[in-house]
Amino acid sequence: MNFLTHLECSRCGKEFDIDKVWNLCPECEKPLFARYDLKAVSRAVNPEIIFKRMPNLWRYSELLPVRSAKNRLSLGEGFTPLFKATNLGKILNFDNLFIKDESLNPTSSFKARGLGVAVSRARELGITALSIPSAGNAAGAMSAYAAKAKIPAFVFMPRDVPKPFIVECQLLGAQVTLVDGLISDAGKFAKKELIKHNRFDMSTLKEPYRLEGKKTMGYEIAEQLGWELPDVIIYPTGGGTGLIGMWKAFDEMEKLGWISNKRPRMVCVQSKGCAPIVRAFRNGSEFAQPWDNAQTIADGLRVPAAVGDFLILQALRESNGIAIDVCDKEILKSVEIIGHAEGLFLSPEAAAPLTAFQQLQESGWINDKDKVLLFATGGGLKYTHLWS
Ligand SMILES: Cc1ncc(COP(=O)(O)O)c(C=O)c1O
Ligand SMILES: [Zn+2]
Repeated sequence: MNFLTHLECSRCGKEFDIDKVWNLCPECEKPLFARYDLKAVSRAVNPEIIFKRMPNLWRYSELLPVRSAKNRLSLGEGFTPLFKATNLGKILNFDNLFIKDESLNPTSSFKARGLGVAVSRARELGITALSIPSAGNAAGAMSAYAAKAKIPAFVFMPRDVPKPFIVECQLLGAQVTLVDGLISDAGKFAKKELIKHNRFDMSTLKEPYRLEGKKTMGYEIAEQLGWELPDVIIYPTGGGTGLIGMWKAFDEMEKLGWISNKRPRMVCVQSKGCAPIVRAFRNGSEFAQPWDNAQTIADGLRVPAAVGDFLILQALRESNGIAIDVCDKEILKSVEIIGHAEGLFLSPEAAAPLTAFQQLQESGWINDKDKVLLFATGGGLKYTHLWS
């Protein structure tokens, strides 16, 4: 059975044929969302059935876009630990603190979810070459799944990307191009070569299926917390695909009757050196202006302009959430605090939610009754240059 029905533009609502290859909405150049026959899904599957399945993201396959099981690529992505951070909680004098540890995904970050699903769907659609601009983690993840799918992979990263990312992609068989500037410059460079070489653009939210992989974080949180959501989710935001994906998952789960209408307050964390979403949130803007001279040690947060900016801002506002900027020095301190307290060596992006938590606890925005989830999006082993 397959439940995927169509693609729908997140801005203008126009619908598109699911069996054709799409990037952004051709009408308004905004992201497309995959839509499912949720009534049929709720007749076919329920939390009790899902409970018995393998511990990876394909346990939610009725809500994923890959039609045929033979096209599902798996390296063990998803179903990562969600645990109560008791040691950290003691340090912070806060009882209800939880961590979702995404560093245990293939290639050590949550990017494996989006790319595992998107490369699987690309294979299903007969795509023959994949192109991606990346700050590092997405490129590694795409290279891994492309290798498994035997599809040629072309990755474009800023020239200053840490060496482990370059080596990782190369050893996974991808062709690596280093580009002067930021991820946005890498994106422009990659785009020029797309048509010439007949490559498909896997930039986040510029194809519809990475979002579907990332949304499984929302399903997992609910399942791991007994089909209840926390009060607050703190998420390090670059392109914001995970935050937008979780927000979509919550909607789907409510329609399926798996959760109530209670939603977490969503918190977007960015670095003070690149905080376009924080600025737009504070200004009350619908869209974010591009950030000039973006600089931060948290490479994944060095995204000066996000195509899904309005979707991130919408989720923050609908959830009564907030956007917070934190400084790099504090982020590095958070890496150490989490390492010492919980035995997790995280990347700077992944530690940033702790810094935001401390600010929000101090300001009283988070109170003692809140159940708070920090999203630890990736591991720290590829960032040891920060500690030399
Ligand atoms: C470890 C890590 N966390 C967070 C992010 C930001 O993710 P998103 O672009 O989905 O907001 C990235 C992006 O590269 C990342 O690598
Ligand atoms: Zn549109």
